[in-house]
Amino acid sequence: MRENFLGKMYMKKVSFVIFLLAFISCCTFTKTSYSNTSESVITDGHSKEETTRGKRFFMGLLPVNSKSESCVSCHNIVPVDTLNWNPSAMEIALKYSANDFASFEQIVLAPSGKKMSEVHKNFEIESEDLRMVKNYLDGMVHDGYPHEKVNVIWLIGLISLIIVIFWALIELIFLRKIKIKMITVFILLGAFAWLINILYHEAAHLGRQEAYAPLQPIKFSHKVHAGTNQTDCLYCHSTAEYSKSAGIPSANVCINCHIIVREGTNSGKFEINKIHHAVDNNIPIEWTRVHNLPDHVFFSHAQHVGAGKLDCMECHGPVAEMNVLTQHSDLSMGWCLDCHRTKKVQFVENNYYTTFKEFHDQMSTGAIDSVTVEQIGGTDCMKCHY
Ligand code: HEC
Ligand code: HEC
Ligand code: HEC
Ligand code: HEC
Ligand code: HEC
Ligand code: HEC
Repeated sequence: MRENFLGKMYMKKVSFVIFLLAFISCCTFTKTSYSNTSESVITDGHSKEETTRGKRFFMGLLPVNSKSESCVSCHNIVPVDTLNWNPSAMEIALKYSANDFASFEQIVLAPSGKKMSEVHKNFEIESEDLRMVKNYLDGMVHDGYPHEKVNVIWLIGLISLIIVIFWALIELIFLRKIKIKMITVFILLGAFAWLINILYHEAAHLGRQEAYAPLQPIKFSHKVHAGTNQTDCLYCHSTAEYSKSAGIPSANVCINCHIIVREGTNSGKFEINKIHHAVDNNIPIEWTRVHNLPDHVFFSHAQHVGAGKLDCMECHGPVAEMNVLTQHSDLSMGWCLDCHRTKKVQFVENNYYTTFKEFHDQMSTGAIDSVTVEQIGGTDCMKCHY
């Protein structure tokens, strides 16, 4: 009798906890959490209403009968996965946070430049409304992306899932209070599948980073430069032939052309202005590295580009078609070795290999017709590992 009663109590509590946890995970993993309706307190003397009004305006909810496109349709307020040539709301916010309203109004309503005149034409905005938009943007600088808040919730969701899995396991193996085992098994499998799904998507960002493409400080496009305008890779990566590193060009290299080219077809003036800002103020552009071999591996571009005469594309893929530079190969040891085992070295007419007399003799007598990288020692551990 007592046993039965305790069992029922247990069932009730458990179903409540499970329900709660499932509810939390549902809430956290649905993308709607991005909508970020939390209105935080803004400093700088702007009232909450003003900021909220500014936000509504930016989102196109105000004025009610507006004919112009909403600001957010071009200036995204959360980071996006796809390339958006327009400046993000945060970038605009950062650029104008220290400026007064007049300069902001000037640039929005009296656009200079071809692109800007095209996209910002016919804006019917009251000065007062625009002032609130600026308040909203100033607040954004203060608060950061809404995105960051999601991560904490995300973590809670993850922990809830793990708790559910643990409970289901303990229930199945030790407690066995729930009579219909299938229910527990079902919950366990469901939670487990969900967890794997999340971890799988997360893992894609960790460790080896094939297809990795970080956000860069300037929307520099290899497609525009190496593709459309056919600039040679070595014009910018000038050390690739004779040094270990291919190198990233300094802003001064960009200026060679951009002293004249002041506006881009896709991005207008905003991105190119950043180059001028960097050079005028002597601030280096902080590109985020895409490729990263571990420290214990030695790799030299000179060896592959200079001596090996390999094309950049063999390792980096179709760079000239990429707007956003993405890592093409996984840079694993297997990847290096696969090529070294099969790739023939350009032996003839290459001063670099004159020391391999034996191979040269065999080649000239016709005993062999090619030499792979492996044969010149390209699979020795010490060649790649310090
Ligand atoms: C149709 C797309 C579009 C819409 C809608 C739009 N913008 Fe823009 N905006 C752009 C583009 C593109 C640029 C960059 C143009 C350039 O730099 O030449 C830009 C630039 C800006 C800049 C920065 C100018 C600079 O160079 O510093 C501000 C500020 C701005 N927009 C505010 C707004 C506001 C506020 C709204 C809503 C009222 C809005 N935009 C709506 C496309 C748009
Ligand atoms: C106009 C200058 C310019 C030209 C031309 C150019 N690049 Fe780049 N490249 C850059 C800049 C700037 C970066 C850093 C920003 C980025 O990653 O997009 C870069 C980054 C890279 C990277 C990634 C570096 C890293 O962080 O790991 C590779 C690989 C690369 N370029 C290959 C090429 C190849 C191949 C070509 C020729 C098809 C080429 N580049 C042509 C300027 C240039
Ligand atoms: C060899 C000349 C040359 C060099 C060097 C060069 N660019 Fe460009 N860049 C161009 C040309 C040409 C355009 C295309 C303008 C257009 O869209 O009509 C351009 C366009 C751009 C655009 C706008 C793209 C668009 O379509 O809106 C950006 C941003 C840019 N370059 C950044 C850079 C950066 C950063 C560097 C230095 C790492 C650099 N460029 C070096 C010639 C050059
Ligand atoms: C044999 C394969 C291979 C070839 C060919 C190759 N790269 Fe790389 N590249 C790599 C690897 C691997 C890395 C990562 C190096 C590291 O992390 O130390 C890299 C890194 C880079 C970087 C990042 C900065 C640096 O130097 O570490 C740039 C830029 C780059 N390569 C450009 C080029 C260009 C341009 C060419 C053609 C002239 C080229 N690469 C040819 C494999 C190659
Ligand atoms: C697309 C083919 C290819 C890939 C991928 C490649 N290599 Fe090479 N590697 C070559 C060729 C061809 C040579 C011979 C040219 C030479 O010795 O300079 C070479 C030579 C070398 C050498 C000199 C070997 C010797 O005997 O002197 C080292 C070290 C090396 N590669 C390291 C690496 C590492 C590390 C990686 C991976 C991160 C890698 N390679 C990926 C083609 C490749
Ligand atoms: C052609 C270049 C090359 C040669 C030759 C080579 N390695 Fe590596 N090795 C690499 C690269 C690149 C990595 C980094 C792989 C990664 O980051 O996933 C690596 C990683 C490793 C690691 C770390 C484990 C890991 O997966 O990160 C060990 C251990 C290792 N190598 C041992 C060896 C031994 C032993 C040999 C000789 C039989 C050897 N390597 C020969 C390129 C090479």
